[in-house]
Amino acid sequence: MSLEGREIVLGVTGGIAAYKAAALASLLVQRGAGVTAVLTRSSLRFVGAATFAALTGRPVATRTFDSARFPLGAHIELAARADLVVVAPATAGFVAAAAHGTADDLLTTLVLCAECPVIVAPAMNAAMWEKPAVQRNVAQVIADGVRVVEPGSGWLSCRRQGTGRMAEPDQIAAAIEAVLATMPPQPAS
Ligand SMILES: Cc1cc2nc3c(=O)[nH]c(=O)nc-3n(C[C@H](O)[C@H](O)[C@H](O)COP(=O)(O)O)c2cc1C
Repeated sequence: MSLEGREIVLGVTGGIAAYKAAALASLLVQRGAGVTAVLTRSSLRFVGAATFAALTGRPVATRTFDSARFPLGAHIELAARADLVVVAPATAGFVAAAAHGTADDLLTTLVLCAECPVIVAPAMNAAMWEKPAVQRNVAQVIADGVRVVEPGSGWLSCRRQGTGRMAEPDQIAAAIEAVLATMPPQPAS
């Protein structure tokens, strides 16, 4: 399926699965989407902005305050032009922030501003994923209209088997395509 003409914000948070977000960025670009990557401060400990800039062909957004590039606020400008926001991987911290409406960095603020569909692909250690607090937060974001691409089971970087692996990039891309297939493209601004 084509994503031609679609604008996607790809939020990347600070989990080990951030390396898989680079493959997702590439997949979305290959399918025709315009992709702007928004990286949290923690994600930059795992992956480099240069990777996402090169894969998307666009500067990466990392800061809430960047008035030279986004005079209205990066959160507002990026949310306004997005057809869809996808956060992959979504850390436990990000899901908690989304569930509680916390806006303490660019990505969490942007998600609060987004009027388009939001998809999150959580990824974390199995013990974290199983915690009632995390499950409550996941249930809350689903109740609030966020689509969750559930993590899979298998090898985790903490060297155990369990549930918490981020869904594969092609699964997340399929979820994005399924959502966008139901929406007419926005008129070009
Ligand atoms: C090696 C390492 C791996 C981590 N992997 C994960 C992870 O997979 N999922 C998660 O929720 N947190 C993980 N964390 C913890 C997050 O990086 C931490 O909670 C951070 O504050 C998340 O910030 P962010 O959500 O703003 O990106 C990891 C931390 C380290 C040091």
